[in-house]
Amino acid sequence: MHNQVSEIKSVEDAAKKAVTNTLFSPRFYTTDYEAMDRLNIEPVRAEWDAMMAEYEGDNNHDHFQRDASFAEEARELAHKMSPELRQEFLDFLVSSLTSEFSGCVLYNEIKRNVNNPDIKKLMEYMARDESRHAGFLNSSLKDYGLGIDLGNLKRSKSYTYFKPKYIFYATYLSEKIGYARYIKIFRQLEKHPDKRFHPIFRWFQRWCNDEFRHGESFALIMRANPGLLKGGNVLWIRFFLLAVYATMYVRDHTRPELKQAMGLAPTEYDFDVFRITNEITKQVFPVTLDIDHPAFRENLDRIYRCAMKADAGKAAGGIAGNLQKAFWSVAGAAVFVRMYFIPVKSNALPASARLVPSW
Ligand SMILES: [Fe+2]
Ligand SMILES: [Fe+2]
Repeated sequence: MHNQVSEIKSVEDAAKKAVTNTLFSPRFYTTDYEAMDRLNIEPVRAEWDAMMAEYEGDNNHDHFQRDASFAEEARELAHKMSPELRQEFLDFLVSSLTSEFSGCVLYNEIKRNVNNPDIKKLMEYMARDESRHAGFLNSSLKDYGLGIDLGNLKRSKSYTYFKPKYIFYATYLSEKIGYARYIKIFRQLEKHPDKRFHPIFRWFQRWCNDEFRHGESFALIMRANPGLLKGGNVLWIRFFLLAVYATMYVRDHTRPELKQAMGLAPTEYDFDVFRITNEITKQVFPVTLDIDHPAFRENLDRIYRCAMKADAGKAAGGIAGNLQKAFWSVAGAAVFVRMYFIPVKSNALPASARLVPSW
């Protein structure tokens, strides 16, 4: 199967990639700000205040600066990258930047639109972190002459409306899975420094601790409002778990060179990330997906193959291409539905929600 990463050759290609929404690319969100304003975090006040003190302490304030050797190291290593790896790495930079900036925009908008002092302060801190992350990624794109105009991206990308509870499930998960992804890469390259093909990976450990803490914030919000974690909402939690896992699987498998260069196999890497994420999410979700169920692995692969065939149809265009795209999109959705009904594992929530990033 050929991978379908569309090539980034110019600054326009990079901007187009960031602004275009596909089923598997990062999106921008808006939500119901009045409902956000009404959130009450009193039931978790002590844990909340401890977390806010960590944000205030800002132990990463000096982290997102490039050291003297960064640009030179990037230049030297760039010569050793194959053209395929280079393309996948650029794709990785653009999609990571888009998703960091998506968080930045959302958190900033919530901050601007609420008066609730707890939520306002939290959003201010998280937007601060995400803006550093996005800026740091953008400086690596600029080395290639492919920097993205973030003001323009904010104005021109379309926004998806999500009810607050969907924001909590989706954002909580993307923060935690983001942590798991970065720490796995960091640990691998710590063991095999010869496979570190860009200096940006040296920043991942302290970086992913920010994401871990962002996830903690949403965990506390949900624990303070336990109705979000019960009854019919458990069906939504299952849906978001599966959607986030499947999206990651498809995206990683369209970029096989990237993981190979790090000495990681995409499927094994993804399952390690699922395992870490499953463990973490027990702090707040009453269910986890059974990733060891044989049908789980098989069907993920089916979804990936459907997505590739749908993409090929889209690329071919015309009536036949569009039919092919429609057919394989529906086929992929049907596999997704089947996976949704694989039994999940239940767990009782721990007394305290807080975790430390110990992976
Ligand atoms: Fe981030
Ligand atoms: Fe984050």
